[in-house]
Amino acid sequence: MANTESNIFETEITKLITGGAGLGRCGDLAAFIPMTAPGDRVRARIVRRKKAFVNAELVELLQGSPERQTPPCPHFGECGGCDLQHLTGEAQRRSKATIVTECFQRLARLDVGDLLTGPEPAGPELGYRNRIRLFANPAGHYGLMRRGSHAVVPLETCKQMPESFTAEFLPWLRTLPPAEQVLVRLDGRGGFLLSLFGRANRLRFLKQRLGELSNGETPLKGCVGMLYNNLPVWGRDYIVMQVAGKTYRIGPQSFFQANLAEIEAATATLCSWLAETRPAGGLLVDLYSGVGLFSLALAEMFERIVAVESDTHAARDAHHNVGRDKRAGAKAIVQDRPVAEFLSEPQLEGEIDWPGACFVIDPPRPGLGAAVCASIARLAPRDIVYLSCDPATLARDVAALTGSGYHLGGLRVFDFFPQTAHIETLVCLRRQ
Ligand SMILES: C[S@@+](CC[C@H](N)C(=O)[O-])C[C@H]1O[C@@H](n2cnc3c(N)ncnc32)[C@H](O)[C@@H]1O
Repeated sequence: MANTESNIFETEITKLITGGAGLGRCGDLAAFIPMTAPGDRVRARIVRRKKAFVNAELVELLQGSPERQTPPCPHFGECGGCDLQHLTGEAQRRSKATIVTECFQRLARLDVGDLLTGPEPAGPELGYRNRIRLFANPAGHYGLMRRGSHAVVPLETCKQMPESFTAEFLPWLRTLPPAEQVLVRLDGRGGFLLSLFGRANRLRFLKQRLGELSNGETPLKGCVGMLYNNLPVWGRDYIVMQVAGKTYRIGPQSFFQANLAEIEAATATLCSWLAETRPAGGLLVDLYSGVGLFSLALAEMFERIVAVESDTHAARDAHHNVGRDKRAGAKAIVQDRPVAEFLSEPQLEGEIDWPGACFVIDPPRPGLGAAVCASIARLAPRDIVYLSCDPATLARDVAALTGSGYHLGGLRVFDFFPQTAHIETLVCLRRQ
């Protein structure tokens, strides 16, 4: 119970909730307490009081859960990049599976207990990320945002990034003329693309530095290109990545998956679900296609493919990627427009077998929403595979689709972002 003078209370943590906070009790109210673990007994302080819950901060760990571990990063707790380093990898994954199960129970009234598989790690729990955006603090030190704030925590390391980021990249970055923001994209084979953002009048300092390079010399080993405020200043303005044997060109402004091992595992699951139940052929509709990741990965299984992507940069990369791919090239087209518009007016030539089609859907966090779900249900494709980065919006969309004649045939949780509270879920829906 809370001591109202000091807003301090003691509680057991029973589980983690969406966002990574631990769930405790403060009197009759639920208490959400970041940096705690299921099985902890803690003393906490209320920082915000709502009608049905309180947000609180950890004051003292009275008894630590056996699921705890020593956080591997010295910045953990202060830096907002990670939420769960105090939990073992296994405990993180178990909590993520529970959160997904509970979202489906609460928001879709579906019991997915028997269907749900994963997450199983497909790659390392540290050093898995292939991109990071850093911010400069007023003193010019690069870092990530502090937890719950827009202040920058200067970083000496980031354990989500490969070792070379700490050992080579950060020290080198500090030798460049200062920028306000930095985006680094790694190609997974030792190369990287660097985008700097800052005041226009500082560009000349960077150009001066680059002008000092002798012919054929790179600014840092592995650097394939540099941009300033999205304009190329040295080398290439894209990276080339290989995923499951397919090649993708990715520009600095296009979305691409941040964890290669996990996206390969998710793609393999998706292929095996479709191969189990679908005859080869028919139409693949790759909605929210990005640079064409799934259009290329699934090209062998379909005779016709349409990728739909509204971001001009990603759509341009998708055009390039499908055009260059041996399998996808002749049968795929890219439509650079919003999904909702495509669904109401697909603009495809010839006879379309919608009832035999397969939709692969990978929307941003807000998910599909009622109108897009209704449009999909109207076209009534045979199979829908949906990759989601938000279990709550996924559960809501699945409820809409199961209410329109689909049944849930598969549900697999992936841990694309170990040490963080992010959860990726792949579901397969089949028309009844
Ligand atoms: C989560 S990413 C998935 C990209 C791709 N499937 C992949 O795995 O690389 C979502 C993509 O949807 C695009 N997008 C967002 N809203 C959209 C909309 N209304 N219509 C079409 N594409 C949209 C974004 O630009 C982004 O490329």
